Amino acid sequence: MNNNEIKNICCIGAGYVGGPTMAVIADRCPDIQVTVVDLNEARIQAWNEKDLRKLPVYEPGLDQVVKRARGRNLHYSTEVDAAIAAADMVFISVNTPTKNKGIGAGKASDLRWVEACSRQVAKCARGHTIVVEKSTLPVRTAEVIKSILSSAQSEGTNQGPHKSFEVLSNPEFLAEGTAINDLENPDRILIGGESEIAVEALASIYGQWVPSERILRTNLWSSELSKLTANAFLAQRISSINSVAALCEVTGADVREVAKAIGSDSRIGTKFLRSGPGFGGSCFKKDILNLVYLCRHFGLPEVADYWENVVTLNNWQQERIARLVVQTLYGTIAGKKIAILGFAFKANTNDTRESPAISIIYNLLEEGAKLAIFDPKVKKEQIEASLGIMEETQLDPLQSKNINSISFEGKWESKNNIVEALEGADAVLILTEWEEFAEICWEKLAPLMRKPAWVFDARAISNVQAIKDAGLNIWRVGDGAEQ
Ligand code: NAD
Ligand code: UGA
Repeated sequence: MNNNEIKNICCIGAGYVGGPTMAVIADRCPDIQVTVVDLNEARIQAWNEKDLRKLPVYEPGLDQVVKRARGRNLHYSTEVDAAIAAADMVFISVNTPTKNKGIGAGKASDLRWVEACSRQVAKCARGHTIVVEKSTLPVRTAEVIKSILSSAQSEGTNQGPHKSFEVLSNPEFLAEGTAINDLENPDRILIGGESEIAVEALASIYGQWVPSERILRTNLWSSELSKLTANAFLAQRISSINSVAALCEVTGADVREVAKAIGSDSRIGTKFLRSGPGFGGSCFKKDILNLVYLCRHFGLPEVADYWENVVTLNNWQQERIARLVVQTLYGTIAGKKIAILGFAFKANTNDTRESPAISIIYNLLEEGAKLAIFDPKVKKEQIEASLGIMEETQLDPLQSKNINSISFEGKWESKNNIVEALEGADAVLILTEWEEFAEICWEKLAPLMRKPAWVFDARAISNVQAIKDAGLNIWRVGDGAEQ
């Protein structure tokens, strides 16, 4: 089989991965029809929006890619069955969150959406179909998918048209905020599979724009496991540097200097050594917990404990920052106004899943603070949904997500810009590294705040001297000189 034989792709799941990934495939392979389907009608409607600023995912450059391909060979639709039936390759790119109840709750992946997709593919596919795991999955999930598909395959020989399937693993390594660049210039494409013909069919699609030496072929299980461990290694670096940041703060060292010094060793490398409020995002925590679950399942408790500590350290970093704000502001923040700059889990995305802002904000609200939140890409409704607390509400402690909450005098409101957020504030806490926060003119804005006022820079992006010159106090993550 060569790439010409893949004429029609269906991708199930129009989320942060399915939407942009398929847009780039369609852009780069104009001869292939690509249909991205989702059960969520509002999401599909947003992908079809004429006004490209209203696409459901914010990613620099995505609007231009969609503009070029949409309507030509890129389609977003809710007609799941029809798109599967027409496809010779189906990507499964649905959510795989952590299970919240039952066996493995809190750690194992909830595979109900993946299973539902497999059943739907088994039912609706026609002829020969290559099924590609794009979602991040526990190792050996392909076995489950194959078993569901093979029941349809054998049925097909007796009743109705013949169907046959191949399953591949092709995990996605894009990072939000840089998704388009990551998709257009990937470090590597990983394809795991048993059938060489199917592997090569997928490889030749990527081969249209990815250099051949960057397309790695492995067996199915290596591919599935590589995705989980890649995320675990990345997250581990962040917990490592955050642990060093805490040590820097008490010893007078500066974590940026230490990061530079250790990162200059080519064996360590410079990337992913930025200390901050801890990692967020939909995947690091869930993928590590999934890895931990698998290790315990396969009788490797020491390995499980090792990886679990990466998450423990991350939670500690977030609690530590909230505690530090309270302690610095004379031990109480009840009734004090604190401006929160940034709610997205990182800059250049509107994604707030597992954002460190969420747990830090809970802790500050529990201490009775009045929070003024501003993020350039996150609207009030999304903050409400992420926190589970409506704007301006003083919550009954029992309604709080944190059931240990004793008092809940705190409340929050959403602001439209930095100036509004800073007005009358006792402190500013920078949680996302948006460029506009790095460029704040402190001389101009400091007079808006109630003195003595503090800037807590959990991303270390601001100009320390300008803050001091404006008469404000400063705390920066990992900066021993400032403590
Ligand atoms: P998402 O929640 O943004 O999107 C998943 C979509 O799948 C949703 O819109 C949902 O409605 C849809 N869906 C679920 N079941 C369906 C069904 N049966 N039929 C049709 N649509 C269905 O999730 P995401 O962030 O795109 O992540 C998808 C997968 O990719 C996850 O496994 C994740 O771990 C992995 N991943 C995510 C990222 C990232 O940056 N977000 C990066 C790499 C890998
Ligand atoms: C991460 C991986 O980088 C992707 O390769 C992977 O595909 C993806 O997870 C996934 O599987 O979902 P993403 O979560 O989008 O991508 O973003 P990252 O850039 O990895 O940042 C994750 C978190 O770590 C953010 O909260 C970020 O602020 C934080 N981070 C990152 C740091 O605190 N310091 C750093 O040096 C780097």
